[in-house]
Amino acid sequence: MSTPPPGKLGLPELAAMKSRGEKIVMVTAYDAPGARFAEDAGIDILLVGDTAAMVVLGHESTTVPVTVEEMLFLTRTVARAARRPVIVGDLPFGSYQVSDEEAVSTAIRFVKEGGADVVKLEGAGTSVSRARAIVQAGIPVMGHIGLTPQSATMLGGFKTQGKTAERALELVNQALELQQAGCFSLVLEAVPSAVASRVTELLEIPTFGIGAGAGCDGQVLVYHDLLGLTEGHLPRFVKRYANLSGEIKGALAAYAEEVRSGVFPDDEHSYSMDESERAEFEAALESRSPVNE
Ligand code: KIV
Repeated sequence: MSTPPPGKLGLPELAAMKSRGEKIVMVTAYDAPGARFAEDAGIDILLVGDTAAMVVLGHESTTVPVTVEEMLFLTRTVARAARRPVIVGDLPFGSYQVSDEEAVSTAIRFVKEGGADVVKLEGAGTSVSRARAIVQAGIPVMGHIGLTPQSATMLGGFKTQGKTAERALELVNQALELQQAGCFSLVLEAVPSAVASRVTELLEIPTFGIGAGAGCDGQVLVYHDLLGLTEGHLPRFVKRYANLSGEIKGALAAYAEEVRSGVFPDDEHSYSMDESERAEFEAALESRSPVNE
């Protein structure tokens, strides 16, 4: 791919952060205000995640239904709004599983039409080959193993992965295969901290944990979860840093109450006109011929 625009955080810098032991911060983003807030807060990477299916598109507890067109729309929006953070386009379910060619075509769309800097795909197995093909096409890839929501049914639901020695070793092997395929980084979701730490030590590329403990090179959380915009059950790994849904509902209820009681809009939030113009307007209204005669 071409040289990153001025001011954009480069992928070599992410690798350098890992070697310096500096934590890398990633958060999901789905719209322009969210992207700007995250950039202003100094976030390094914005993941336009397929969690969009649930947190912004209203699908129940699954990322599967979101389409390429929907993800491209959201990715474009985020990419337009942010300058420094690396923009990750998340390839949705069904857009890369069939063949390496399909994976490369989808990844190209995310870069050309979505403005993504890099793409993310889930799983190992055939995904290793997909990752390799995309990297060979010149597009950097972030892998994602452990709990991979697109294949949650195969994994027996939204459950912690790698809890036995055998499954933990499988994760290590998957991580090494994805690194070997050319991935520049890896998300580890819902795996025991001890396993994630060992994977992180064994890899040269940065790891991002979500429910994978403090030993990872960076962390990622879903924007709506950390800000308290999601309601209902949340995974154990989510830490809420605000309760914005409470704030938003309070503000909307206050607005509704003020409209209904006539308190809003008051003079401060309305436009006035010159008294003389107003008098002329009223006189003209009085003397105008009725419309229906
Ligand atoms: O889609 C997403 O938001 C993700 C994160 C949870 C890592 O994949």
